[in-house]
Amino acid sequence: MKEECQIFSTPAELAHAVADDFLAASQKAEMKQKKLSIALSGGSTPEILFNILANSPYKDGVRWEEILLFWGDERCVPPDNPESNYGLTRRTLLDDIHIPKKNIFRIRGEDQPEIEAHRYATILRKHLPLDKFGHPRFDWIFLGLGNDGHTASIFPGSAIMKLKNKICVVAEHPQSRQKRITLTLPMINRANKITFLVTGSLKSQILREIFDRNSGFEKYPAALVQPVDGTLLWYLNREAGAALSV
Ligand code: 6PG
Repeated sequence: MKEECQIFSTPAELAHAVADDFLAASQKAEMKQKKLSIALSGGSTPEILFNILANSPYKDGVRWEEILLFWGDERCVPPDNPESNYGLTRRTLLDDIHIPKKNIFRIRGEDQPEIEAHRYATILRKHLPLDKFGHPRFDWIFLGLGNDGHTASIFPGSAIMKLKNKICVVAEHPQSRQKRITLTLPMINRANKITFLVTGSLKSQILREIFDRNSGFEKYPAALVQPVDGTLLWYLNREAGAALSV
């Protein structure tokens, strides 16, 4: 596993760096004539990225037709619900860019969770490239870090942390009991590239425990994101990285 960490002065600077990576990756996909399968996350940090990608030079510079968009997790609500991760992406990005509708594979939060988890796993098997063991893998997954160390919708103490062979499952938010659909850690860790977008001082101590591998760090689901043979990138703003010794 190759791991890198970059700390940026502001969330906007962080998001612009990611948008530049996004642009370059889409141009490379066009040259290689191989579509790029990307899983997005929800949260406030990706929202900044989406707003930047929806404007020049990315709006018209990114080769959107080369990009297949998926989600790493979704709340089990309809797409027009303010809680919907897809709805957030649609409002802040998809409504403003020319991406073919056939390139968008949302999780249907309005459907029965167990049925949708099974359907989405079938979609991923059908549309994603396969690794050397024949398992579907993403080219690039974006993840956030919750204040409790969760990532995607894998929460501390959840049995989902121990799953070894599922692609995506039904999760439940520990406080709200809201049902979610989430990729599992084995599915996440098969990705070729995983980028954590983390902002805010509330994350700094958890990041320090994860980076220092302090005893008990593995109680945080985000700490179990360890790509099998891909690259793990941490993009932090100054507040989130404040407790790190890097
Ligand atoms: C979700 C998100 C979640 C998010 C983190 C960080 O559906 O809740 O996917 O995993 O990434 O909570 O959110 P912020 O970027 O807002 O800190």
